[in-house]
Amino acid sequence: MSKRVLTTESGAPVADNQNSATAGVGGPLLLQDQHLLEKLARFNRERIPERVVHARGSGAYGYFEVTDDVTGFTSADFLSSVGKRTDLFIRFSTVADSLGGSDAVRDPRGFAVKFYTEQGNYDLVGNNTPVFFIKDPVKFPDFIHSQKRDPFTGRQEPDNVWDFWAHSPEATHQVTWLFGDRGIPASYRHMDGFGSHTYQWTNAAGEAFFVKYHFKTNQGIRCLSAEQAAETVGADATSHQTDLLQAIERGVNPSWTLYVQIMPAAEAADYRFNPFDLTKVWPHADYPVQRVGRMVLDRNPDNIFAEVEQAAFSPNNFVPGIGPSPDKMLQGRLFAYADAHRYRLGVNHTQLPVNTPKNAVVDNYGRDGLMATRYGSRHDKNYEPNSYSGPAQTGVPLSAPFAVHGHTGTHAAPQHVKDDDFFQAGELYRLMSEEEKKRLVANIAGGLSQVSREDVIDKIVTHFAAADPDYGKRVAEAVSALRED
Ligand code: HEM
Repeated sequence: MSKRVLTTESGAPVADNQNSATAGVGGPLLLQDQHLLEKLARFNRERIPERVVHARGSGAYGYFEVTDDVTGFTSADFLSSVGKRTDLFIRFSTVADSLGGSDAVRDPRGFAVKFYTEQGNYDLVGNNTPVFFIKDPVKFPDFIHSQKRDPFTGRQEPDNVWDFWAHSPEATHQVTWLFGDRGIPASYRHMDGFGSHTYQWTNAAGEAFFVKYHFKTNQGIRCLSAEQAAETVGADATSHQTDLLQAIERGVNPSWTLYVQIMPAAEAADYRFNPFDLTKVWPHADYPVQRVGRMVLDRNPDNIFAEVEQAAFSPNNFVPGIGPSPDKMLQGRLFAYADAHRYRLGVNHTQLPVNTPKNAVVDNYGRDGLMATRYGSRHDKNYEPNSYSGPAQTGVPLSAPFAVHGHTGTHAAPQHVKDDDFFQAGELYRLMSEEEKKRLVANIAGGLSQVSREDVIDKIVTHFAAADPDYGKRVAEAVSALRED
């Protein structure tokens, strides 16, 4: 192998990488030392804005393989035949802390999958929880501010965290989930993933279905208690990253089985829960899960910055046969992500290798912008319509339309028969064993007892009590006991 030569960015060989050029021995530096100037200037520009949420994460490549026929429900090409494989990239993440935060913390985990399909990239940007804290995107920035570091103290403040939840009764279900046994996954491999929102599938005949995605881990669920998590963070703050990287390097390729719950579109209006409310699940007794395929992760990225930090997922990257539902939160997200990418990575972020559609041809009239590397031939026109056989629209919508009615305005979500904010939280609580209930209450009390205002504590206890009187009573007692200590 020929010896590798160190070069400048322009490719010229570097003579000395240990001593800067000076005016004489011991003299001041010379402005003509291109290597030094370039090296210092480039170093200053290594960091880009971190993601405003889900900043800390880990990624891996793999594939999705269809195991069951779902062509009756969707015309999506990558799901069109049993055995069909599609390349993918996944990024797991925590939500609230910054890039330098710890992995083993009580926080939802992001579960973002980019399928490189032959009809374009399909991004399914979900979490490890089937529900979420809020159901209207207008509340998202306030919610996130309350969970991230306080502008004065510079740390996550129990006062802010619980105050927001005390003012958001719809968070009761997700808070019950988060403070339960699954709130701190032992690793990214040992947790499930959910699309969380309701999405729409459309089949070749144009029939519409609403679906919820569930990725079930084939490694088994493993979680940490609060005490185990504290120990883990102390020993290795990057425990999830280490686990995923090492497992794949060892050839122990993690996998998940994908299931969907499917609701014929006509059943949505009269379902007992609002099927587009992200704080609710569809009980499996109503809509059982049906298997679709399996996801296998078998390759680590070579470069974390290039491939993981610069990965850009957007819930509005759909492919024919899959589309949005009227879920307001989802609709808000359809805007937020690509906007974040344009700010964080630039308008041409889709041209970065990890984001570019590798199995589909991109052909449009989008042009130029910072860092443009994609361009067609000299004969391509940059306007449409044109007389030069440029790319033209298909006239075929990606998914079926849904009917809307009523007046414009800032409406609360439509109410269905069972649509209160507490019923499903109570159902989750009642499903728990006595030991699970004890741990849930202890975990909540551990955080809530640090809140300085009694009125905030009282307010949120009423939410737990509304979910189940026993739940509320136990939380109130546990918090009082801790505050008397
Ligand atoms: C990341 C906005 C709700 C899952 C992000 C980012 C933004 C954002 C701006 C950073 C994107 C980037 O810089 O690359 C929002 C808004 C929401 C919302 C406005 C509500 C209206 C949700 C929900 C889920 C979710 C409900 C899960 C079901 C994720 C994940 C990431 C993320 C997994 C990280 C993606 C990655 O790994 O790059 N969100 N989000 N978000 N969000 Fe949301």
